[in-house]
Amino acid sequence: MKCIRVNASRQYNIEIQHGALAIAGEETLKATHAIGKTLIVSDENVFPLYGETVAESLRATGYGVHTFVFKGGEDTKSIKTYEAIIAALSENRFTRSDVLVALGGGIVGDVGGFAAATYQRGIKLVQLPTTLLADVDSSVGGKTAVNLPTGKNQLGCFYQPSLVLCDTDALNTLPEAEYKNGCGEIIKYAVLAGGELFSMIENADIRTQYADVIARCVTIKRDIVGEDEFDTGRRRLLNLGHTFGHAIEKCSGYSIPHGAAVGIGLAMMCRAAHKRGYCASDVPEKVEKLLAKYGMSDAADFTAQELYNAALSDKKIAGGSVSLVIPEKIGCCHVLTVSCGDMLGWLKDGGAR
Ligand SMILES: NC(=O)c1ccc[n+]([C@@H]2O[C@H](COP(=O)([O-])OP(=O)(O)OC[C@H]3O[C@@H](n4cnc5c(N)ncnc54)[C@H](O)[C@@H]3O)[C@@H](O)[C@H]2O)c1
Ligand SMILES: [Zn+2]
Repeated sequence: MKCIRVNASRQYNIEIQHGALAIAGEETLKATHAIGKTLIVSDENVFPLYGETVAESLRATGYGVHTFVFKGGEDTKSIKTYEAIIAALSENRFTRSDVLVALGGGIVGDVGGFAAATYQRGIKLVQLPTTLLADVDSSVGGKTAVNLPTGKNQLGCFYQPSLVLCDTDALNTLPEAEYKNGCGEIIKYAVLAGGELFSMIENADIRTQYADVIARCVTIKRDIVGEDEFDTGRRRLLNLGHTFGHAIEKCSGYSIPHGAAVGIGLAMMCRAAHKRGYCASDVPEKVEKLLAKYGMSDAADFTAQELYNAALSDKKIAGGSVSLVIPEKIGCCHVLTVSCGDMLGWLKDGGAR
């Protein structure tokens, strides 16, 4: 088992192992030191695949098991689902020594995490991520949220789990598009950190080395988040590829998924950074080649003006300026604040029409 220790406002382990869901019970006990009730929160795709394995392991360890299964999808990352989870916790008389177990992708983790964070001011939370994106990104860092009609992740809080347990076997049932979503974020980490992660995913397929790749990505995220748990500075580096990526997602009416859009956003940023003299020409070339290796696109057919308009409505753009994460070389990025007006030029330099 690979184990990464996180020293945030709560200390916990991220454990990565194939077959880990079958030992979820004992690992939960080790991490929480509490035997009581558990509520498994999951979605309609994941629960039929892995719910019983987790429930059985929890029961065998001595836990009482309740379940809350919802449809899943971005529409259900909502106050309505949150309320229904809270109702399940209170009707079953959960207390702060009981545990919410979030089994699924980022949707389950975000809404389940927010319920755990707020019910009785916080009950124990165990994250069992089942998508590559959740393994490398959403289950790490302590952000929980639901969407509001006015935008994504508008209601939430920072709340650290007691344990994150990644079962790499669960990734075998992941649809191809979800695999690529995870790859987009992994390529982002590889550009941020460079070194071995970049060459590992360049030389062999991510699929053949899940545990190593996930361990490296969560270590990178842990280290960045560790310096900025509450997202006021350094954590912005994790937005590499995301400012343009979000605009691309939006312009496509969300038909281009998040990870794919981040990949395109990353390639555009590398081209723009090169054109403006921040990095050498091998950076965009290397990134484009890596995206192609994973069957991902490096350009989208939107005009700079369309992307600019979409980017301006992003919540991360404040006070007439925008923070762009600029690659100087593979493994070295920095945040540059530019005026909103300048972004149009950056988008054009990135290759937008
Ligand atoms: N909290 C954070 O820091 C953070 C970071 C990044 C993203 N997010 C959030 O994460 C969400 C996206 O997460 P996601 O990409 O994991 O999407 P998701 O949770 O919707 O999962 C994607 C799809 O895969 C299915 N699925 C999950 N695991 C499976 C498996 N092992 N086998 C077969 N099917 C499986 C799900 O049912 C779903 O249909 C977004 O809401 C985003 O805002 C949060
Ligand atoms: Zn992302």
